[in-house]
Amino acid sequence: MTRETMIGVIGGSGLYEIDGLQDAKWVELSTPWGAPSDAIFTGTLNGLPMAFLPRHGRGHVHSPSSVPYRANIDALKQLGVTDIISVSACGSFREEMAPGDFVVVDQFIDRTFAREKSFFGEGCVAHVSVAHPTCSRLSEACFEAGKAQGVKMHNGGTYLAMEGPQFSTIAESKMYRESWGCDVIGMTNMPEAKLAREAEICYASLAMITDYDSWHPDHGEVDITDIIKTLMGNADNARGLVARLPEILDAKRNACEQGCDSALEHAILTAPE
Ligand code: ADE
Repeated sequence: MTRETMIGVIGGSGLYEIDGLQDAKWVELSTPWGAPSDAIFTGTLNGLPMAFLPRHGRGHVHSPSSVPYRANIDALKQLGVTDIISVSACGSFREEMAPGDFVVVDQFIDRTFAREKSFFGEGCVAHVSVAHPTCSRLSEACFEAGKAQGVKMHNGGTYLAMEGPQFSTIAESKMYRESWGCDVIGMTNMPEAKLAREAEICYASLAMITDYDSWHPDHGEVDITDIIKTLMGNADNARGLVARLPEILDAKRNACEQGCDSALEHAILTAPE
């Protein structure tokens, strides 16, 4: 069975809009989980329907802990989004993953603790698999689009999701890098990726490297003003990358081979009434 593709882009720090959408309008939505981070900018890009949601809201009003993750995913689902591309800033634990590079993340370690992480709970219990938390087809498309845009891309990497808002201590940074084998660190991809899976939406994560966190002996502490400077360059590349997706992704898509879009089929335990 084929379906119309609709891309949802969740833009992180520095990415509050995308260019070139035709028939563009901001759509206000409400959800059972409250209001999303902002209105959603919808339109088509070279024939491909798109929806853009600034994760922190225009004006950056939501901290990583206060982003309404469930409302955001629900609102994109209501619009008919089939594929979410998450764009976010991150720190790097690898010398070769330098500020300005993008990593197409394929694994996560979730260390967040102060966020609602599921659509399920009392009344309806479900356990979806997140063994493979990102969609490989969508991730490959992002990798290709990034290369075509001239960005230095890294295919695969483990993302440590921390609660924040403070950055890591040197001891934490070294532990994540040396003992836990993480490649990048950020504050927002969890529970977003888990919720997308529960909503049966394919999810890919583009982590834009802004700094070396605090482990690197030759780089100083993480500094938000330096991060913002790198982000401004990164955001142009992110917009360019997104604009290339209609050349790569089909307007009609088959069922996801990995099963992202049927994740609930064998996951709900509660008996129907
Ligand atoms: N976002 C950008 N850089 C980061 C870092 N070093 N740690 C957590 N989140 C980040």
